Amino acid sequence: MATALPALPGVDHSLQFLRQGYDFVGQGCRTVGADRFRARVMLRPVICAQGADAARLIYDPDLFTRKGAMPPHVLRLLQDKNSVQMLDGPPHRHRKGLFTSLLMTDEAEQSLLDLLDREWGRALQDWTGQDRIVLFDQVNLILTRAILGWTGVTLDDPDRMAGDLSAMIENTGRLGPRMWQALARRRRVEARIRRVIRAARADAAHEDSPLHRIARFRDADGKPLTLDQAVVELINILRPTVAIGRYVAFAALALHRHPSLAPALRQGQLGYEAFAEEVRRHSPFFPVIGGIARRGFDWNGVAVAKGDWMLVDLFGTCHDPRLFPAPQDFDPQRPLSWRDFGSDFVPQGAGSPHDGHRCPGERLTVAVIRHAARMLVERMDYSVPPQDLTVSLSHVPALPASGMVLAAVRPRA
Ligand code: HEM
Repeated sequence: MATALPALPGVDHSLQFLRQGYDFVGQGCRTVGADRFRARVMLRPVICAQGADAARLIYDPDLFTRKGAMPPHVLRLLQDKNSVQMLDGPPHRHRKGLFTSLLMTDEAEQSLLDLLDREWGRALQDWTGQDRIVLFDQVNLILTRAILGWTGVTLDDPDRMAGDLSAMIENTGRLGPRMWQALARRRRVEARIRRVIRAARADAAHEDSPLHRIARFRDADGKPLTLDQAVVELINILRPTVAIGRYVAFAALALHRHPSLAPALRQGQLGYEAFAEEVRRHSPFFPVIGGIARRGFDWNGVAVAKGDWMLVDLFGTCHDPRLFPAPQDFDPQRPLSWRDFGSDFVPQGAGSPHDGHRCPGERLTVAVIRHAARMLVERMDYSVPPQDLTVSLSHVPALPASGMVLAAVRPRA
């Protein structure tokens, strides 16, 4: 028999969503006293839920599609309409194979870390002569240069690309002029990447770089990607890699707030990977993931109809006390790993990255946070001057307010 889902009091909850940000689903759950409820966002009925059960459900590729599940401007600033995220079934699995084969290998990780190491080392020399730096801004530049090198894209002004990619990420949760500006910057990125893809397609050398592999990739129907599809998918590697800068800022914040961590990492009592995984669990990044039911089904007594819209709370699931005791504590001893492909530790999605929409960039994300933490802990000395380190949960995507200012930066003796 179908169970009635509790409804959040009120007519429409869009303003509540904007105000509460990462805590919208959590607060709703506390209000109704359950881990799922009905609400209305943008005048549209939606089922909101948190917890491993809900995460497993929305990552079932047979039950949910991502088409129509996100406001158009958010989609445009993130994955975009021609992307792998908008595909379902065998065409999705085939295109996803491009990403998993490019991103989830030892060679991919090692070559990105080599580039990161080189760019960080260069930047460290510049920082040494400066009074203070904003770590988040600097890491955006480092990651942009590294991922351009990794993909095989050469640009005459890579730092402008860094600004454009960061603006796209920064303004996904906004409406109004800043969102319009970010959309304009996205169009500028697309124009530049279009020229890059055209040149790669005209290049008879058939290099094996990620750029060339995307430019030459054929979809499940045997046809090459259209120019727009290839542009979107290359940007879907560049933009999220730059986004890892937020996790690096949160890693620096954790090191600052918990002074015992740096010596433990340096002396090998704590592993860098365990630290990086707890940074991903603890930090607010991707708030919710949306899906549209592909068919009607029964979810533990709740009747879900074809076309129903569902939002699952990734942030809330990573802070669910049923899964992570004392979830607000930063505790790198928790047994967390992206390798499990589970449905409880879900900062970048749940389930299998091969069959469903789980992020194919998790391995590289963890590697970058790990390496950045090593740089902060072993390769440089710095102080953290007084600054506003507030992390507002109503601002999506979140960041320590100051961007993590570091002073008196110098190579560690
Ligand atoms: C998908 C988060 C880094 C490429 C996703 C999804 C999430 C996510 C939550 C699932 C979307 C869905 O369920 O529809 C993040 C976060 C990152 C990150 C928080 C850290 C900054 C990366 C990196 C790459 C990447 C480094 C590539 C180099 C992708 C792609 C998809 C995706 C292509 C679409 C997968 C699909 O629809 O099958 N990401 N990601 N991400 N991510 Fe990431």
